Amino acid sequence: MVKIKIIFAVLVMNLSWVLFCSVDASVSYDNKAIIINGRRRILISGSIHYPRSTPEMWPDLIQKAKDGGLDVIQTYVFWNGHEPSPGKYNFEGRFDLVRFVKIAQQAGLYVNLRIGPYVCAEWNFGGFPAWLKYVPGMAFRTDNEPFKVAMQGFTEKIVSMMKSEKLFEPQGGPIIMSQIENEYGPVEWEIGAPGKSYTKWFASMALGLDTGVPWIMCKQEDAPDPIIDTCNGFYCEGFTPNKPTKPKMWTEIWTGWYTKFGGPVPYRPAEDLAFSVARFVQNNGSFFNYYMYHGGTNFGRDSAGLFIATSYDYDAPLDEYGLKREPKWGHLRDLHKAIKLCEPALVSAYPTVWSLGKNSEAHEFRSKAGDCAAFLANYDTSSSAKVTYFNKQYDLPPWSISILPDCKTAIFNTAKVSSLGSHMKMLPVSTVDFPWQSYNEEAPNSDDSDTLEMMGLYEQLNITRDSSDYLWYLTDVNIASDEGFLKNGDDPVLNIVSSGHSMQVFVNGQPSGIAYGRLENPKATFSGNVKLKAGINKISVLSAAVGLPNVGVHYEKMETGILGPVTLKGLNEGTRDLAKQTWSYKVGLKGETLSLHTLGIGSSVRWLAGSLVVQKRPLSWYKATFNAPEGNDPLALDMSSMGKGQMWVNGESIGRHWPANIASGASCGACNYAGTYNEKKCLSNCGEPSQKWYHLPRSWLKPTGNQLVIFEEWGGDPSGISLVRRTP
Ligand SMILES: *[C@@H]1O[C@H](CO)[C@@H](O)[C@H](O)[C@H]1NC(C)=O
Ligand SMILES: *[C@@H]1O[C@H](CO)[C@@H](O)[C@H](O)[C@H]1NC(C)=O
Repeated sequence: MVKIKIIFAVLVMNLSWVLFCSVDASVSYDNKAIIINGRRRILISGSIHYPRSTPEMWPDLIQKAKDGGLDVIQTYVFWNGHEPSPGKYNFEGRFDLVRFVKIAQQAGLYVNLRIGPYVCAEWNFGGFPAWLKYVPGMAFRTDNEPFKVAMQGFTEKIVSMMKSEKLFEPQGGPIIMSQIENEYGPVEWEIGAPGKSYTKWFASMALGLDTGVPWIMCKQEDAPDPIIDTCNGFYCEGFTPNKPTKPKMWTEIWTGWYTKFGGPVPYRPAEDLAFSVARFVQNNGSFFNYYMYHGGTNFGRDSAGLFIATSYDYDAPLDEYGLKREPKWGHLRDLHKAIKLCEPALVSAYPTVWSLGKNSEAHEFRSKAGDCAAFLANYDTSSSAKVTYFNKQYDLPPWSISILPDCKTAIFNTAKVSSLGSHMKMLPVSTVDFPWQSYNEEAPNSDDSDTLEMMGLYEQLNITRDSSDYLWYLTDVNIASDEGFLKNGDDPVLNIVSSGHSMQVFVNGQPSGIAYGRLENPKATFSGNVKLKAGINKISVLSAAVGLPNVGVHYEKMETGILGPVTLKGLNEGTRDLAKQTWSYKVGLKGETLSLHTLGIGSSVRWLAGSLVVQKRPLSWYKATFNAPEGNDPLALDMSSMGKGQMWVNGESIGRHWPANIASGASCGACNYAGTYNEKKCLSNCGEPSQKWYHLPRSWLKPTGNQLVIFEEWGGDPSGISLVRRTP
């Protein structure tokens, strides 16, 4: 009996092995590589986030990715876009995930679906819906029952959607792997035990979904088997997965870095980017993904807190507008061709490594079948190296790697860029101007009927639930007629501390100043003399969020809005504390309530036209109708003459504008490609607006009668707004 059982088990094992090998569609892995349909593969991947472009742009972006030598498109899944309120799903337009995956499939590319559902991604609230925070008992990304229920619910929703569309590779689809959580290792390390049990839980939850393709976790050294832990960074050659049975994968090669309002624009030289990739591959790396291959745009209110700009260009090989960024795109294409020629050797041998001299090395992959590929590297940051490899001399520029797919001919060197550069231009479209009309938004006050009155100061998100960037904080200050300042003219000083991100102060309806946080520190402090009269004075403060935080341990606890102190100094009594008195709250702008930005609605509103159009007035709405210019060049708005606010075309939100936030506190000197790169090394735009151009997707325009709407918080000159087109 026992014997029979054993024989039977052996039979079953053999059978499943045979099945496994003979079934056409399968994805597995070993220590060398991801194995698709029985073949080890060197896989070249690029991140394109579907909501950061329009569906009309997707086929072209994906085709250009394919032409650039990519095998895989990697994307996060954006929960807050898909489930804007509990149980109400949205998979339309920019959030049509299935359409995006199918476009990749039609182009013959694979997909790495990073479900998360935490995504970080410089995305609003790290991809979590704002309502999630208010589920009773909620704590994000830890061993917390309400969180786990919600996370599992959404992950299952996405997996079953992909399954029913037959999108996993064993079903004939393009998805060859999925990611659960995202960069959780550092959080787990910080919070300890509950983090460890959360990791165990989400790993087995994911494995239980039975997708038929491998799961990965990035930046998570303790990824439980069989989940593959992967590396993110500017360089990953030194990374090793946590088990010798897993392949060495790089899920985020940072091709540049994101821009923040108030910061300079980072870029990363193509030579160093190619060097980092070649260095990874010569050290056993077999999967690498560019983050981003196309960064795109943070439309709407999608960008994360702490001042992430609307542009998410990232200095990626495809620029924000979907055009090839040269020489980066072409240089990487050439690199990919060279690596693909090495594939037979790379997937069947480990490298033999030896020194070729000071700071130089050879990595040679020689397979039993006779394939040979070599990488000759010079790590010196200032001198080139003349090296000898099998009786031939090779010249290696500083900080470079030459690739020899046959161990004889160097067909590519990471520092020798043969692809031509380009001089991207933004040219004015002279045929389009904007006949502006304006609408005056007034500061509300505590007497208004549609306000919520409470004692003391309240956190902003708790009240807005992120239905708007804006929350009005309204209060009254009673000034006795015997106040000294009324006679001596020494106006009292109003002090307001906000936890973020910007505020605009009105006293008795008059603009009295602005304050905003800076980059890493979202806190804003207003301090200024204010004109007060005897009797009741109306203080109205417009607090604006610039996205919700997306990163940090329990970032859901970070506060936004005016939480004090709020004081009035220079009264007879000395300093009056205003924080604990009665405040009234009003969510959003009047213009938002009237839907001024929505096409066709709000037409009952009286707009001012011609000479009545206001300029430099805080809290102004502008509207203009225009015809689309001819041609296919991507379009943008040059907003240099404006301050801060939001823009819409035909009811679609273009995003937040903030050209008045100037890139400061950094130096934009020359940038040498050689040497270890970081995001502070190569910068541009110092002393200029961090972002003055705002992408206006062609697909949002009709031939005629397009409606552009702008809300300006600070006061700008709309006559300075122009339409520009991007030309290579
Ligand atoms: C490549 O992987 C093999 C097997 O894990 C290992 O022995 C070797 O040291 C690795 N080589 C390099 C250059 O990383
Ligand atoms: C959230 O706002 C409500 C009023 O809408 C208030 O009762 C509650 O205390 C607030 N919670 C926090 C944590 O501020």
